[in-house]
Amino acid sequence: MIAESAGLVFAVSVTSLVRYAIVFGRLQGMRRVLVVDDEENIRLVVKSLLRKNGYEVAVADSGEAALGMVESFGPDVILTDVRMPKMGGLDLLATLRAKQHPATVIVMSAYGNIDMALEAMKAGAYDYISKPFKPEEVILVLRKAEERETLRRENRALKEQIKGKEQFQSILAKSPSMVAIFKTITKITEFKTTVLVSGESGVGKELVAKAIHNSSNRKTRPFVAINCGAIPENLLESELFGHKKGAFTDASSDRHGLFEEANGGTLFLDEIGELPLNLQVKLLRVLQEESIRKLGDAKDIKVDVRIIAATHRDLTAEVAAGRFREDLFYRINVLPIAVPPLRERREDIAILLDHFLDRNNARLGTQIRGVSAEARKVLMDYSWPGNVRELENTIERAMVLCDTDVVQASDLPDRIRDALDPVQVQLASGELSVKKTSAAIEQILIRRALVKTKGNRTRAAELLEISHRALLYKIKDYKIDDL
Ligand SMILES: Nc1ncnc2c1ncn2[C@@H]1O[C@H](COP(=O)(O)OP(=O)(O)OP(=O)(O)O)[C@@H](O)[C@H]1O
Ligand SMILES: [Mg+2]
Repeated sequence: MIAESAGLVFAVSVTSLVRYAIVFGRLQGMRRVLVVDDEENIRLVVKSLLRKNGYEVAVADSGEAALGMVESFGPDVILTDVRMPKMGGLDLLATLRAKQHPATVIVMSAYGNIDMALEAMKAGAYDYISKPFKPEEVILVLRKAEERETLRRENRALKEQIKGKEQFQSILAKSPSMVAIFKTITKITEFKTTVLVSGESGVGKELVAKAIHNSSNRKTRPFVAINCGAIPENLLESELFGHKKGAFTDASSDRHGLFEEANGGTLFLDEIGELPLNLQVKLLRVLQEESIRKLGDAKDIKVDVRIIAATHRDLTAEVAAGRFREDLFYRINVLPIAVPPLRERREDIAILLDHFLDRNNARLGTQIRGVSAEARKVLMDYSWPGNVRELENTIERAMVLCDTDVVQASDLPDRIRDALDPVQVQLASGELSVKKTSAAIEQILIRRALVKTKGNRTRAAELLEISHRALLYKIKDYKIDDL
């Protein structure tokens, strides 16, 4: 009797929970579910159940097949069987985690395989469902995952608001110049406009290109990237446009080019400044006619491709020097986005620093809490000629070298520390004058003393062991006043 009534209470609470969750669930965005199971029956049953409940569903019959689909389908949740021939659920989970794929993974396992399900949860699965299951169970677990994701998102958004930082796709920034770029990207989501992304090496040009694609109405179609400078000139044309069998000696079969691969989506032409002049002519033709011709083919093929080009060069200078065609330049420079170097948006350094610390802690298994005040100052003041990529590598290196749980200035490469030391700058310039070099040292000591005494000049003069009058004279001479 007692057991029965307890069961009843439980049943009631489950249905009310389900009802609550459904109402709640409508507000959420976790609609895309990828179901992975080698048993066709399970795939069909779960698929129809989820469709009925308003989910968008795709199915895969193996871990490998699922991996092939995650990019194109972009699931929010992956519901996978644990035991499958070849790649099982655990390996699938590990691969997704290694790629840092954000999908929530829920495993399904037969009653006898609970151990594996628990193992999956240890490896980062969100929950497990044991087979055979009731339909409500699946829906309930999905709703719970949604709820958690919403909380996580709100939490993250709150934290970022507090820090005043913005995130657009995977681009982190808070500087007005980057936030302006985010705005531009959101304005062009509906258009096929050609974009030219320019900026020094490592500023995030490729990230911007991906963000443009991923926020556009082409996001479910391919994003195909090619580095025009990295492919030998004689192969580049067939790479871009494809070839017919027999077009040249090695062309043993027909081949699609990248334009065809990117059809309906985006083609990212990285380092477009490196494109040889004869291909510049062909590219211009493709952009004007929206059709390509394969090598060795007599007919044109229509393509619908959005072009995003990137360059670290000043293309106007390349045009002036005759290395880049002016007509092509005007054709691709429809919407220019110039990503500023990191030294011109120092506000971004701190959030990138925190982001790389968190990410590397997760990836390297380290538990570094942060960086010392001195190290932070060095990082904030450095000129970062290699931009975000250099910052990323510097932090990873420092975290590996670090002996404690806080990165110290001594964990940073000499090149970065020395670059900031005016005495080193002076010495590196090959300066021989004792007078000029000691003036550089004097300035450092005076600034240091003034910072320490919070601007009290009498106390500063005492620390410096010079007269008050001499200090005033030097402050004026070195123009330290405007600090
Ligand atoms: N704002 C950002 N937020 C997070 N990561 C960033 C940001 N900008 C750049 N990165 C990271 O820095 C690295 C360099 O970025 P990316 O490859 O997009 O630069 P790039 O301008 O294309 O460089 P290159 O000219 O050398 O090809 C990447 O690992 C990228 O993820
Ligand atoms: Mg790049």
